[in-house]
Amino acid sequence: MQQISFSDSLKILILGLGWTGQFLQDLFVEQNIAYAATTRDGRNGTIPWSLTASPDVSPLPWANTVLITFPVLSADTMHQLIEKYTAEKGPTNWIILSSTRVYSADPSNRHTPLDPSKDNGRLPAEYEVIKNNGTVLHLSGLWGAQRQPKNWVGRFNKPEALKGKILTRQLHLVHGKDVARAILAVHQNFKSGERWIITDRTAYDWLKLFLVWGSQEQLDIINELRKNDPECGKAIGSHGTLKDIVEKGGVKPRLDSDEFWDTFGLEPKVFLDVV
Ligand SMILES: NC(=O)c1ccc[n+]([C@@H]2O[C@H](COP(=O)([O-])OP(=O)(O)OC[C@H]3O[C@@H](n4cnc5c(N)ncnc54)[C@H](OP(=O)(O)O)[C@@H]3O)[C@@H](O)[C@H]2O)c1
Repeated sequence: MQQISFSDSLKILILGLGWTGQFLQDLFVEQNIAYAATTRDGRNGTIPWSLTASPDVSPLPWANTVLITFPVLSADTMHQLIEKYTAEKGPTNWIILSSTRVYSADPSNRHTPLDPSKDNGRLPAEYEVIKNNGTVLHLSGLWGAQRQPKNWVGRFNKPEALKGKILTRQLHLVHGKDVARAILAVHQNFKSGERWIITDRTAYDWLKLFLVWGSQEQLDIINELRKNDPECGKAIGSHGTLKDIVEKGGVKPRLDSDEFWDTFGLEPKVFLDVV
């Protein structure tokens, strides 16, 4: 039988050092945690590696935890990746990042049944990770560094798009620094076969974002919708200015990530200032 030998010095292997990776790198350097990372083109000293239908794990080192940051759209590919890595490098703890799309119920916590109609092809591979005692982290809207919610507001300039935001109002976010802390906590206190929702435990109000960062044209459309669209009228209410309505508050989180933060003994630290 082939002998597998692996060093136990490498703690985390990041498959896909993208946007989340920059926050992980900062945290790992600060905490002196040995890690390795891949990108598809091998830039900045990363290991060049791509996941293909028949995964080649030979360029990858062994690490205690392997974090997959990108969507894997095939259960078979995921199965092969885990099987080959385990056979050639050794057993490890798998973590895969995902989105909160499949938690469509209001409210939702990590135990709420998933909504497969909202899946964009990630679920089968995630089930494979869980079957292999891994962890799926369902992240809410990611912000930080080059991703600033202030810059997202301008995208919603048509009545239909604005209506969607007015009817829901809640915006769930988590900052990259807190995502990195959350991933490190999962690595350090690994629990088999779990899904966790990760938000910053709050919900921001889209109406406030439009009020503070939107254009006059967007506010005019919102006021038009409020007057002429019964659904919007009902959602916003007919009394007071938009500012009065925002100040009244009442936007509650739909996604509940309390169990994640409580279980790992952490608190989110970075919150968005809408000013
Ligand atoms: N944007 C949001 O608000 C949001 C919200 C919730 C969850 N998420 C999810 O959170 C996760 C992390 O997001 P992110 O913004 O950090 O992702 P990202 O910046 O796109 O980084 C993904 C990384 O994976 C690599 N990659 C992609 N496909 C690959 C493949 N087939 N083989 C090997 N490497 C591959 C990319 O390589 P290259 O660097 O070479 O391109 C990149 O380094 C994603 O799964 C995303 O869907 C995003």
